[in-house]
Amino acid sequence: MKMVFLGPPGAGKGTMAVRVADAAGIPHISTGDIFRFNIKNETELGKKVKAILDSGELVPDTVTIELVQDRLQKDDAANGFILDGFPRTIPQADALGEMVELDRVINFELSDVEVVKRLSGRRVHPGSGRTYHVLFSPPRVEGKDDETGEPLVQRDDDKEEAIKNRLNVYREQTQPLIDYYRSRGKLVDLDSAPSPDNVYAALAELLGLKRA
Ligand code: AP5
Repeated sequence: MKMVFLGPPGAGKGTMAVRVADAAGIPHISTGDIFRFNIKNETELGKKVKAILDSGELVPDTVTIELVQDRLQKDDAANGFILDGFPRTIPQADALGEMVELDRVINFELSDVEVVKRLSGRRVHPGSGRTYHVLFSPPRVEGKDDETGEPLVQRDDDKEEAIKNRLNVYREQTQPLIDYYRSRGKLVDLDSAPSPDNVYAALAELLGLKRA
């Protein structure tokens, strides 16, 4: 299954992608995670994109398209993948259309009020990318990763100013992709307001996966 998870920041794309990738045996490819990995490791790419991510703006299309093109050529993506956070602009969607034929685009729907609640309470384990929420999915010990006990951190772009900017950027540049994919018969809307288990149950049903 070749899929794109589309939706506003904080809608739960990453949380669900981890579970679906595991159940379907396909890779979860998150452009945001790839950029954050490069920032953490202070690579040339990381140095180039750090300020962009912190502000909530988008990395230039040329950089992002090349990165995804390389990633999709890896063997593990041959039989399917979940793209999380790509495409985000019409030029990215056009470029992706030249690389692969998608099966589905899942449109995660969530109100701005819920987006702000989810992002402001999100905490992540930098080593693994595991994601928690202080209220909705807290770690067993406050501020610590369940598996390693290492400290959890707040993403720099989960601060108030950056969240506002990310929502504006989403509306201006990414939301037009909803009509783009709907008109091509690829889009399925998913209400992502329910609890994580209920959103996963709806998604598993939609994709014909066993529950996990
Ligand atoms: P990226 O990492 O893609 O960020 P995003 O799209 O803003 O998505 P998020 O990771 O914030 O949200 P999510 O939907 O995955 O939510 P999550 O599952 O974590 O991109 C970051 C930056 O990288 C961009 O701003 C840009 O600069 C750059 N970038 C990336 N891709 C790019 C591209 N293609 N082109 C150009 N630039 C690009 O959930 C959020 C919180 O809610 C968590 O705490 C979670 O525990 C909780 N939660 C999840 N589901 C539920 C639920 N059902 N109920 C209650 N809580 C829930």
